[in-house]
Amino acid sequence: MGKFLSFVLCAVLLSATSTLALPTPLDGTVVVSNSSRTASGSATMSAIPASETVALASDDPNYVMWNTTATSDSSLQPVRVEGTSSNTMYLQPMRGTLGTTILGQQNMALQAQNPDIIAPPTTDSGVIPGGNIKWPMTLSPMRLQTGGWARQQNINQMPIATSMAGVDMRLEAGAIRELHWHKTAEWAYVLSGNMQVTSVDQDGRNYLGNVGPGDLWYFPSGIPHSLQATNEDPNGVEFLLVFDNGDFSDYSTFQLTDWLAHTPKEVIAKNFGTSLSAWDQLPGEELYIFPGNSPSPGAHVVEDPYGQVLNPFTFKMSNMTTTPLAGGSVKIVDSRTFPAATAIAVAEVTVEPGGMRELHWHPTEDEWTYYLSGTARSSSCLRFDLTLFVYAGDVGFVPATYGHYVENIGNDTLKFLEIFNTDIFQDVSLAQWLALIPPQLVQAHLQISNETIAGFNKTKQVVVGPN
Ligand SMILES: *[C@@H]1O[C@H](CO)[C@@H](O)[C@H](O)[C@H]1NC(C)=O
Ligand SMILES: *[C@@H]1O[C@H](CO)[C@@H](O)[C@H](O)[C@H]1NC(C)=O
Ligand SMILES: *[C@@H]1O[C@H](CO)[C@@H](O)[C@H](O)[C@H]1NC(C)=O
Ligand SMILES: *[C@@H]1O[C@H](CO)[C@@H](O)[C@H](O)[C@H]1NC(C)=O
Ligand SMILES: *[C@@H]1O[C@H](CO)[C@@H](O)[C@H](O)[C@H]1NC(C)=O
Ligand SMILES: *[C@@H]1O[C@H](CO)[C@@H](O)[C@H](O)[C@H]1NC(C)=O
Repeated sequence: MGKFLSFVLCAVLLSATSTLALPTPLDGTVVVSNSSRTASGSATMSAIPASETVALASDDPNYVMWNTTATSDSSLQPVRVEGTSSNTMYLQPMRGTLGTTILGQQNMALQAQNPDIIAPPTTDSGVIPGGNIKWPMTLSPMRLQTGGWARQQNINQMPIATSMAGVDMRLEAGAIRELHWHKTAEWAYVLSGNMQVTSVDQDGRNYLGNVGPGDLWYFPSGIPHSLQATNEDPNGVEFLLVFDNGDFSDYSTFQLTDWLAHTPKEVIAKNFGTSLSAWDQLPGEELYIFPGNSPSPGAHVVEDPYGQVLNPFTFKMSNMTTTPLAGGSVKIVDSRTFPAATAIAVAEVTVEPGGMRELHWHPTEDEWTYYLSGTARSSSCLRFDLTLFVYAGDVGFVPATYGHYVENIGNDTLKFLEIFNTDIFQDVSLAQWLALIPPQLVQAHLQISNETIAGFNKTKQVVVGPN
């Protein structure tokens, strides 16, 4: 059936009755992705003429596939696979009348975790340019050291994510991530525990700061620094590092010990004005992460004739007032509140069950997302539409200007970080845009009622509540 015929069918249905029924999975109707509509049920909407150029959007709500409690449409339910435990249900590539079961090999655990990849909503289309837009840190190889570990995500895992890379790092109490520096800026968020960081800038001004869970630090490009866990938490610390280049690798930073292990001792002795024997115990290769004695949280910065860095390299984000929103809350930290952080900005977002980070985009900057807790369904749109489930510990990526949303589909608070390679956080809200232009223009595109448009809030909602 061609588009024209679909349009005629809709027009006939619309002219035959002043109300148009909206089939839902609840009334048992098999909902299809085209514009055929079934006149049954009780939901109504006012009869607005169909567009003269395209068919109407499908009424298929494209609910999540694991939502077995609410739907009576068996084709939307997970399928029991023969020979498996009777209370285990496995999602299959089936949605409505589309698709069928897998007969070949199946990784049941991964299928269950990714229902929207196995059975994409009918609204999905196209392919992702440049590979993954979700990467579970769980799949990144761990680099194990005495005293801690590290794992990373960069363009090797997500080729599309050229603007930022991330490292998840753990240090036991007292352990040190050795003195180092790199070409990228370094931004960090403490996931658990407490840290002490130190640095000296290009003008010889020094810095020493302490951070706890939910706090940040930032070191500009090329500025040397150290990271050490205190013993305020006996378990030490874990933190997320973000770098302003997707090419970054924690395997190729400049390390104090690596450099000196590769410098003639005669040169080292001359440089520091010492005897050769002063360097008898110099490590012969890099240390990277190694155990140490816990620094005192009350330690003072070394007396510096040049004074302290102009802007502190740490920020107590945990102590910042949260902005309450209809469906959650947000804290935004960029160079306006944390002046040192000129290359990375963050929004820490919480979304309560049923709430949603609204449809929006970021006008100039890519978003590197890190999920801290909860379960979300998210999709990005432009040249492709891909809906994904994301979990705590996953990294997401949304190219600049791509529209997206993040919906809390679990029972727990969803919390995540939106991170940008920029100095100022910015976003554009779809609802605010449509609330602030002439309503006739909105109506001409979307064929919605004046009342509906009048209800659009002129204030950016950021996180909306359950419908
Ligand atoms: C729309 O769906 C109906 C019901 O599945 C089918 O009969 C019809 O051929 C479809 N039309 C198009 C254009 O896909
Ligand atoms: C589950 O599906 C029902 C309709 O079948 C819908 O009312 C409900 O909102 C859905 N819940 C979620 C979390 O998608
Ligand atoms: C936390 O914020 C309060 C009030 O805004 C302030 O009085 C206090 O000094 C802050 N504490 C730290 C450690 O920054
Ligand atoms: C949410 O809670 C309900 C009721 O306790 C439970 O049936 C459901 O499985 C939970 N959903 C998730 C995603 O944990
Ligand atoms: C909707 O608003 C437009 C102007 O924006 C007006 O011309 C039209 O009559 C209104 N329709 C209804 C049903 O109120
Ligand atoms: C619009 O949003 C603001 C902020 O969330 C809220 O205070 C206000 O009540 C909303 N207005 C309407 C008409 O919903």
